Amino acid sequence: MASVSDIGIDLGTSNVVIYARNRGIVLDEPAVVAIERDTRVIRAIGTEAHDMIGRTPSGIMAIRPLREGSVADFELTSSMLHHFVVQVIGKRMFSRPRAVLSLPSGINENEKRNISAVMFEAGVRRTQLLDRPVAAAIGADLNINEVYGTMVVDIGAGMTDIAVLSDGRVVVSDAVKLGGDHFDDAIIRYLRRKYNLLVGEMTAEELKTTIGSAMPQREQMYLDVTGRNLISGLPKLMRITSDEIFEAIDDPLTGLIEAIHGVLEHTPAELAADVFDTGITLTGGGARLTGLADALTTALKVKSRVAENPRVCVAVGCGRTLENLADYARYLNDRR
Ligand SMILES: Nc1ncnc2c1ncn2[C@@H]1O[C@H](COP(=O)(O)OP(=O)(O)OP(=O)(O)O)[C@@H](O)[C@H]1O
Ligand SMILES: [Mg+2]
Repeated sequence: MASVSDIGIDLGTSNVVIYARNRGIVLDEPAVVAIERDTRVIRAIGTEAHDMIGRTPSGIMAIRPLREGSVADFELTSSMLHHFVVQVIGKRMFSRPRAVLSLPSGINENEKRNISAVMFEAGVRRTQLLDRPVAAAIGADLNINEVYGTMVVDIGAGMTDIAVLSDGRVVVSDAVKLGGDHFDDAIIRYLRRKYNLLVGEMTAEELKTTIGSAMPQREQMYLDVTGRNLISGLPKLMRITSDEIFEAIDDPLTGLIEAIHGVLEHTPAELAADVFDTGITLTGGGARLTGLADALTTALKVKSRVAENPRVCVAVGCGRTLENLADYARYLNDRR
């Protein structure tokens, strides 16, 4: 097999996804690093580290080095990125590939420069950055080169990027600290308030992805979960219903609708008319919440749809620019 050539990377706060030119998705792993508590020596990265969450021996802790759209731990972020890139491109002596990278919007200029340096050390000749909404739109197959308004909403774990694009430019946008993590937190708070039951982040996420919904469901579903009863201090098994999760996520859902509404309000009339015509495209893992597109369509009166494979749209968009530089080179930025 030919070695991997140029790559597109979505460095997300919960997942890192890499798309290789003419190959497709070649890496999709949680953005987690497991380190030794005392020495901070890295023990595992990605899927292996993720599997340690909540069940690590006391001397090891699993960390998400990126949180809420920014870098919480730069060193671990660098090590993780370096590890994933080397894993994909192999050790290179000659023919160093180039890369297009989409970063969380809370990353500062200094961090951007340092990340380009990390990429270079990992064997990448040249790294260029692509705005997240532009990457999401390209990955979702939207035609962004036309002078016509399209709206894309990328719902990640820590952030939601909302943008109206026309002629390849972001005309109006907003990035809000509201994503899947906040839905999980809302579920944790709800169960604590209602049942004095403390569940972990992974349990909350499981409730959201299996029985969670942004619309009331005709058929009630349920999931049995184990948490800790905060009064007795003992583990407790409880049956949670889909109606309860629907109620639990009301706050973040309302916040999301308001944020999109705000961007629509600030969109120039002609472009807003285009968006009403073409609708809203949802990308990112958070877009997979059952009933979300319907809930947005109902609340905003604008037809919303989930892109195909929403979780990987940003990485696909980054990679596609390298497959078709003639059309897309003008969107790429350099950081030296
Ligand atoms: N079926 C599902 N229903 C609801 N939420 C889901 C589903 N599948 C994944 N998610 C959520 O999607 C989020 C991860 O999405 P994604 O991989 O796009 O995030 P990210 O790109 O790493 O984050 P960010 O863009 O904020 O940096 C998680 O919060 C996860 O719980
Ligand atoms: Mg993302």
